[in-house]
Amino acid sequence: MLKTICYISDSCQEESLKALQKLFSKAKKNNLKYNITGILIYSNSNFLQVLEGDQIHVDATFKRISLDTRHRNIFKVINIDIQQRIFEDYNFGFTIVNNSKELNNLHEYLEWLRKADNKLANKVINMVENFIAQKTAKH
Ligand SMILES: Cc1cc2nc3c(=O)[nH]c(=O)nc-3n(C[C@H](O)[C@H](O)[C@H](O)COP(=O)(O)O)c2cc1C
Repeated sequence: MLKTICYISDSCQEESLKALQKLFSKAKKNNLKYNITGILIYSNSNFLQVLEGDQIHVDATFKRISLDTRHRNIFKVINIDIQQRIFEDYNFGFTIVNNSKELNNLHEYLEWLRKADNKLANKVINMVENFIAQKTAKH
């Protein structure tokens, strides 16, 4: 059974680039191992993450993530079973988004997805697009 979890959270401290790179490479490595696809966006001290994959792996991964003291105020926005993944074909599965070029690429991918008019995809797209829009407005 496939599922997806999408959450937002606040970074606990202004993460250094080095600390972030370490976090990202660990996330990538683990997610590849457990066949978890999705995105992790870090912007302006906030995280937004979409995880998708086998229920057992997504739940176990989210449990580890939710116990991580590097972020807080973790708010699960979406937590549902899915028929298919949204990010499987995007950048080989799991993507870290931490610069404006990546954000633009993601935006284009989401616009392309939106045309497929998948209900779940639209929910995830709206969530990610809102997050991106807020971040862009602040800077
Ligand atoms: C914002 C944030 C996102 C994370 N995303 C992932 C993730 O997608 N996959 C993952 O395995 N760990 C992720 N982590 C790290 C986990 O909290 C945890 O440190 C890691 O999974 C432990 O892996 P290990 O048991 O192999 O050492 C994330 C941590 C934070 C703070």
